[in-house]
Amino acid sequence: MKHSLRSATAAVALLIAGTQAASAAEQISVLHWWTSGGESKAIRVLRDDMSKQGYGWNDFAVAGGSGTAAMTALKTQVISGNAPSAAQIKGPLIQDWADQGVLVTIDPSATDWKSHLPAPIDSDVKSGGHYVAVPFSVHRINWLWINKADLDKVGGTPPATWAEFFALADKFRAAGITPVAHGGQPWQDMTIWETVVLSQGADFYRKALVDLDQKTLTSPQMVQVFETVQKIRTYFDKSYHGRDWNLATAMVISGSGGMQFMGDWAKGEFANANKKADVDFVCAPAPGTSNAYTYTADAFVFFKQNGKKDATPGQLAMAKTIMSPDFQEQFSLNKGSIPVRLDVSMDKFDACAKKSRADEQATIKSGGFFPSLAFGELQSPVTAGAITDVVTNFMNSNEDAKEGVRKLAAAAKVK
Ligand code: BGC
Repeated sequence: MKHSLRSATAAVALLIAGTQAASAAEQISVLHWWTSGGESKAIRVLRDDMSKQGYGWNDFAVAGGSGTAAMTALKTQVISGNAPSAAQIKGPLIQDWADQGVLVTIDPSATDWKSHLPAPIDSDVKSGGHYVAVPFSVHRINWLWINKADLDKVGGTPPATWAEFFALADKFRAAGITPVAHGGQPWQDMTIWETVVLSQGADFYRKALVDLDQKTLTSPQMVQVFETVQKIRTYFDKSYHGRDWNLATAMVISGSGGMQFMGDWAKGEFANANKKADVDFVCAPAPGTSNAYTYTADAFVFFKQNGKKDATPGQLAMAKTIMSPDFQEQFSLNKGSIPVRLDVSMDKFDACAKKSRADEQATIKSGGFFPSLAFGELQSPVTAGAITDVVTNFMNSNEDAKEGVRKLAAAAKVK
């Protein structure tokens, strides 16, 4: 009797403790733009991991590839005093938010990160020597995705030069396939333009887009870039305006579109549709860019909660989880990226990811590893925005290439 009373009391005590823990469970609000099939699967890995650790999740997913709409929503939330616990941010924007004094440092979770991260990314996620962001993965931008059945049908091979590319595009057109699946949104236009800039060589990309060197920006080679972009445009279908990137990828998945220029989150869509690299689709560095690598590295920053200067337990746990080797592997397998952590084995990854890792390492050594301008990794939002306007206007008008170059040079001066 005594014994059963004691165990009943213990059970009640346990129940109370359990309820208290549950009611005290920290809710983490998360703002991000991962809403396509592959993207949602990838972010679900994090949500599940956090839930296993007892944390709640308030999802603020803001649709819109490349996060333009998400960044506007974030500003509104912060200004109105409702900053999320975590938000997807990258590149120079991380510093901008840190400078506003609204972020917490996650140093306690980042004890050994430096030795596991590519140096340029390690410095991107720090401010004043403290970690203020946690990186997820590395996405390579300069990829061309090709439907394998279409490629075989026209007897083609992945193009290594622009001449080969246009020859293949002609074959696709002759076979009734839309040669280039594209979504006419500014950031997707920029993806193509930036990739063509990269195809002029690592030095050219550095001078033009890193240094914003006026001589390079106004060179005959830059006129050629605009002319190439103009020619690529003639291979889009009629309904490309405003199309979301994942719908363009869906065209390549189904074979109605032959090729797409896109970062490797496109591979997340192929994977989500059970399509396999080298069987259903081919990945190839965009023409002329096999020795170079443009990247974007997604990261989360953590905002001060309730005016407190330190990170909450949930924020620290999330930062630690994101950089854990298991999460890094699972996330990238779904997302199409490669783990940002260099010590994660690539055994479970497909040939495209393995190539991405090898090229990442090779280009870091050769000096051909560049932050992407199109994805907010390189210049201030103001300068990048001015260049994006020029590129997108050019791609949606019949402007002369020389006029495009003239406007580009002016936009590069906008600070
Ligand atoms: C992000 C990717 C995302 C893509 C499309 C990019 O800015 O880095 O993670 O999949 O936008 O939404």
